[in-house]
Amino acid sequence: MAHPLPQALTVGPRGPLSGTIQVPGDKSISHRSLMFAALAVGESRITGLLEGEDVLATAAALRAMGADIERLDDGSWRVHGVGVGGLRQPATALEMGNSGTSTRLLMGLVASHPITATFTGDASLSGRPMGRVIEPLSQMGAQITASPGGRLPLMVRGMCPAVPIRYTLPVASAQVKSAVLLAGLNTPGTTTVVEPVATRDHSERMLRGFGADITVEDTPAGRVIAIAGEAELRPQTITVPGDPSSAAFWLVAGSIVPGSDLLVRNVGLNVTRTGLVTALRLMGADIVEVDAREVGGEPVADLRVRHAALTAIDVPPDLAPSMIDEYPVLFVAAAFARGRTVARGAHELRVKESDRIAAMRRALESCGVPCEEFEDGLAITGTGGDPIPGPDTPDARVASKLDHRIAMSMTVAGLHAARAVTIDDVSPVATSYPAFYQSLDTISGVQ
Ligand code: S3P
Repeated sequence: MAHPLPQALTVGPRGPLSGTIQVPGDKSISHRSLMFAALAVGESRITGLLEGEDVLATAAALRAMGADIERLDDGSWRVHGVGVGGLRQPATALEMGNSGTSTRLLMGLVASHPITATFTGDASLSGRPMGRVIEPLSQMGAQITASPGGRLPLMVRGMCPAVPIRYTLPVASAQVKSAVLLAGLNTPGTTTVVEPVATRDHSERMLRGFGADITVEDTPAGRVIAIAGEAELRPQTITVPGDPSSAAFWLVAGSIVPGSDLLVRNVGLNVTRTGLVTALRLMGADIVEVDAREVGGEPVADLRVRHAALTAIDVPPDLAPSMIDEYPVLFVAAAFARGRTVARGAHELRVKESDRIAAMRRALESCGVPCEEFEDGLAITGTGGDPIPGPDTPDARVASKLDHRIAMSMTVAGLHAARAVTIDDVSPVATSYPAFYQSLDTISGVQ
């Protein structure tokens, strides 16, 4: 997949923001829908799939390994699976673009199939650590040859039959958990993952829905997840709920831009994903759940957010796993709160699509927001609701660092800045939220 050309964007004050927003399908659930459907015997249907570059990279890789995946005219997706154990040798390298989830979960799939696959990615993904999946998958018997530092490009030579393991996660990572469970699907016996800190549980919920024999037990050592191997997955009809990580930008935008009143529709509210809503409410945000319901086995509601005076907090570190992708935009909310917000215990931010601690500190400081960087987080002194100053010079550029969430977060910051903010490259937004700027224009009355 060719990376699009860098695309600079200038965003100045807008608002009040009003109207209704439909967020795109959940990225985590979209990847998993395609992967599990590709391993089922027969035809699955998916509606609400996120059609962002990351998920399309997963679809392309699964096609290259034999699954029949097609987008229908009504916008739904049809997947004809090959069955667990049925993945075929891909003819060329699997191009993962910017997507860590595609890479780590697909490495798990390949690890227990009798095939060899090479994974490549863009500059951001090629800098991210893969040792965390290489370690358990190697224990299961896969042979993995990585670039220095356990990075992409790398080659996975699967082992079939693989060896079932019991693996305690050394980092709170749903991707590592899922990679091991996916490898376990085609492994004889029971593969077990122990999760000392709970992370998003979409794999467990969905695998159960697909008919896998999977148990989850809460123990003093954490959550123990066991999957029976040589599984047969049954095809499913899946409705993907809206992505809370995409809704996050509107929750913060609505909170900080005076006079705003937004309805964000169809937001997934699985408790392993709602840390940002909790943190914003602690800061005084006005977020109300409307029409709580269930979509695709996940709790969902519409969220009404209105402008509110935010107050700084010490962000509870135990929220980190349930808002790990939302810190960049939480830092933006903090820039408009009264007082000094401190977020610690979020080490993992250093190894996301960018080093999100350093990237957000630089971005906010370049817009006149005082920050202090820690190894595991950031402290931000907010304006108390006034606009942030914005850049010192009109030609200053905020660096998005090939990171969609930095680009969208700083766009939100620009909506209430005294001087317009220019982001050097917003093209990565297409990885997770292709319609982001259209939605922004709609709610700010530009269209
Ligand atoms: C994801 C897990 C998280 C998250 C990522 C999606 C997933 O990564 O940051 O955007 O779908 O499993 P980690 O597992 O690295 O925490």
